[in-house]
Amino acid sequence: MRSLLFLAFAICSANALPTARRFSRKADAVSVNPNLSTAPSNATAGCSSSSASDFLSQFSSTNHANLTLALSPSLGGNRTFLVHLPQNYYASTPHALVLSFHGFKSAALKQESITGFSEPGVLINGKGLVAVYPEGQFGPGKNGDESIRAWQGAPYSPPGVDDIGFTQALLAHLSDNLCLDSNRFYASGKSNGGGFTNLLACTPSTASLFAAFAPVSAALYAGANPADCAPGRSVPIINFHGLADTVIPFDGRDADKEGRTEYATPNITQYREAWAARNGCGAGTSSTKVGGRVKLSSHIALNQAPLISHPHENTTLKAFTCDSQVNGFTVDGLGHSWPGTAGLDGGVTTFNATTANIVPFFETYALGDS
Ligand SMILES: *[C@@H]1O[C@H](CO)[C@@H](O)[C@H](O)[C@H]1NC(C)=O
Ligand SMILES: *[C@@H]1O[C@H](CO)[C@@H](O)[C@H](O)[C@H]1NC(C)=O
Ligand SMILES: *[C@@H]1O[C@H](CO)[C@@H](O)[C@H](O)[C@H]1NC(C)=O
Ligand SMILES: *[C@@H]1O[C@H](CO)[C@@H](O)[C@H](O)[C@H]1NC(C)=O
Ligand SMILES: *[C@@H]1O[C@H](CO)[C@@H](O)[C@H](O)[C@H]1NC(C)=O
Ligand SMILES: *[C@@H]1O[C@H](CO)[C@@H](O)[C@H](O)[C@H]1NC(C)=O
Ligand SMILES: *[C@@H]1O[C@H](CO)[C@@H](O)[C@H](O)[C@H]1NC(C)=O
Repeated sequence: MRSLLFLAFAICSANALPTARRFSRKADAVSVNPNLSTAPSNATAGCSSSSASDFLSQFSSTNHANLTLALSPSLGGNRTFLVHLPQNYYASTPHALVLSFHGFKSAALKQESITGFSEPGVLINGKGLVAVYPEGQFGPGKNGDESIRAWQGAPYSPPGVDDIGFTQALLAHLSDNLCLDSNRFYASGKSNGGGFTNLLACTPSTASLFAAFAPVSAALYAGANPADCAPGRSVPIINFHGLADTVIPFDGRDADKEGRTEYATPNITQYREAWAARNGCGAGTSSTKVGGRVKLSSHIALNQAPLISHPHENTTLKAFTCDSQVNGFTVDGLGHSWPGTAGLDGGVTTFNATTANIVPFFETYALGDS
């Protein structure tokens, strides 16, 4: 009875708010968040490796290790990455893996703090996840005469560094040394790291390795969002972008303030629609599933138009629902920030994007036999 009264009150007050401020979870409950994937785990070699205990001995009492992988010059040479194991890490139980790529001028520790992927209680498939924060190599910066960490796909990327190859080498290294579920690898990133996440989704050799992708406030320069993006399968995408973002404006732009066209970025609405079209979902597109090892617990019907809801205050979600969804969250008033209540990345929102939406979205997807 009490909950019914509360519900009635909540509906009345929601209706009293102006449209942009209304928020309801109705659309989420119906089909925006499909059911959890039931695809089986796929244990990596690290689940039965005799050297796994040596690897685990590198972790601190907070379950962190700051590691380096010595790779060839084309893969950027010595590559650093921060690894966090969940509180309950089991050496022979496969765990989900989330890679989280930092933004331009940022690094692993900040990326960990703004995203919260290492926070206790963040689970995928009922277990804590392994969160890895790789670091970009040093590029020339925006003026060409600096030394600033960045990822492939931006005008300021380190020349000649193949971060796609680095990511593959990193996954192989982690798979050999940790007990991971290779059907549950996920990629995410902020800004330049969000652009690189998009590039991983557009590249067949990496689109096939991750079950879902979360580019946030993504710097979608042409090198990160190629016009001929052809992942070779349908790719689940969850994307956040603030309407008050002045670094990567929501409406897109043809050049930066200095008139440099290599700093052009797309209209974010069109960017999402392009993914929906590639995935074969959404308005006016064909209904063919594009290949794919993606497995959902049950088939999701195609919609002709995206479902629109307001899951949080000042936030509109347009969900293109089909086998591989494209969920676009547009946050009114938010600048160039990872959405969070604590303002650790600048902007303050009423929700933490990681726990409220990204991890639940990831959980609905796993690679598996198609
Ligand atoms: C989710 O699972 C429930 C219960 O098994 C089922 O009724 C519902 O149709 C499923 N929804 C989707 C989107 O698959
Ligand atoms: C990589 O690290 C090793 C060990 O610290 C060092 O000997 C080597 O010079 C480094 N290589 C590069 C390219 O920096
Ligand atoms: C990890 O170590 C590298 C040097 O090997 C250092 O540059 C970086 O700041 C360290 N990162 C963290 C998160 O401690
Ligand atoms: C962005 O794209 C959408 C969808 O095509 C369009 O409605 C909107 O007007 C575009 N915005 C700008 C500023 O061009
Ligand atoms: C939502 O947006 C309105 C109008 O821009 C603003 O006044 C309000 O503070 C915002 N609410 C939150 C929680 O950010
Ligand atoms: C969001 O994350 C911050 C930092 O971990 C935490 O303090 C806060 O309670 C979280 N907020 C919500 C609504 O979960
Ligand atoms: C397990 O993963 C490997 C690659 O890591 C893949 O070749 C194989 O098909 C996967 N098996 C299942 C049952 O998903």
